[in-house]
Amino acid sequence: MPLADVKDLSLAGDGVKRIEWAAREMPVLQQIRERFSREKPLRGQRVGACLHVTTETANLMLTLQAGGAELAICASNPLSTQDDVAAALAGEYGITTFAIKGEDNDTYYRHLLSVLDLPPTITMDDGADLVATVHKDRRELIGELIGGMEETTTGIVRLRSMAADNALKYAVISVNDADTKHLFDNRYGTGQSTLDGITRATNVLWAGKKVVVCGYGWCGRGVALRAKGMGSQVIVTEVNPVRALEAAMDGYLVMPMDEAARIGDIFITVTGGMNGLDGRHFEVMKNGAIFANSGHFNVEINIKALEAMSERSREIRPFVEEYTLKDGRRLYLLAEGRLINLAAAEGHPASVMDMSFANQALCTEYVAGLPERLPPDIYPVPKEIDHHIASLKLRSLGMAIDTLTDQQRAYMESWSEGT
Ligand code: ADE
Repeated sequence: MPLADVKDLSLAGDGVKRIEWAAREMPVLQQIRERFSREKPLRGQRVGACLHVTTETANLMLTLQAGGAELAICASNPLSTQDDVAAALAGEYGITTFAIKGEDNDTYYRHLLSVLDLPPTITMDDGADLVATVHKDRRELIGELIGGMEETTTGIVRLRSMAADNALKYAVISVNDADTKHLFDNRYGTGQSTLDGITRATNVLWAGKKVVVCGYGWCGRGVALRAKGMGSQVIVTEVNPVRALEAAMDGYLVMPMDEAARIGDIFITVTGGMNGLDGRHFEVMKNGAIFANSGHFNVEINIKALEAMSERSREIRPFVEEYTLKDGRRLYLLAEGRLINLAAAEGHPASVMDMSFANQALCTEYVAGLPERLPPDIYPVPKEIDHHIASLKLRSLGMAIDTLTDQQRAYMESWSEGT
């Protein structure tokens, strides 16, 4: 039995079945797992992972294990763990696992340190907490680390500030920036799973609702698109003028949050920043307004301001906290402002995580296979890996595509041919 801190090992059987169900929709990762089993490209590597502990993540862990890596995993968010999956990882698959849904902040950080006890040669993060903890509390590990991977936009923003401060001391690959990651996971994954989380938590009808999407990055684009598809009237708020213009031409109303706050029925923050919804917005919201966050950290909604304005609060149903304001209005915060899609639903569907995690697996192999360590910096996923994953995914969907003829290629590569 590996080291573990999970809720209940007797849940392992349910976890195994759900992990197998997710695997059906992860054919690209499955193919990588089969090759890894034969070739063992990760032999001798120790991977420390801080990821949402879900059925999809379990399939990634099994792929890395098949490749010969030793593993330890902890949660990348206190509310996103699927306890049956954590039990299966530890109890059935022999993977060191530290993750309990609803763990408090102390336990969350203790689990990070436990993963670093492995000690890893490679880190894998979703939000950069492991990299940050290495640099703050376990600097002696830096010499052994040959590289890391980062899964999400928020983590990349954090790593870029570290790099700008000259504080980043080992190479990290930005899995988030692969086309086969953000164009699908961030857009279609977040789009679907965010609405899924809000629906499961509230059972609201989307049709006819005024839905305010705060942030129009790839996640915001996906959320807005799916809300529109459900018949909502979608309003977008943005700080970036190009993105705001794009939202306008994609057919949404664009306005500042100060205006949107007065008319929205449902608010969704997906900015990667903080206080997209702040005290002054709660001041003017309609009675009954609902708000949720689908960005990585729970700082996008200013909960402290909401609490200070409220007379009382109660959990009116799971993941729904009703705040009664001093003027009598009732406002509804979902999932404590944490990622609604993972807290109240199951996160992105396996079919998109298939590509995100294929990137993680192939980048781990890439880092492990380099003749020498990359200098500390943030690196893109090699284009060949990105294109390979897209080709495998297309094939798994039964789709073939054209290839350029020699004549077409020569034309594309020539600068002398014009009109
Ligand atoms: N991030 C978003 N959805 C996820 C999922 N299903 N598994 C792991 N990480 C995720």
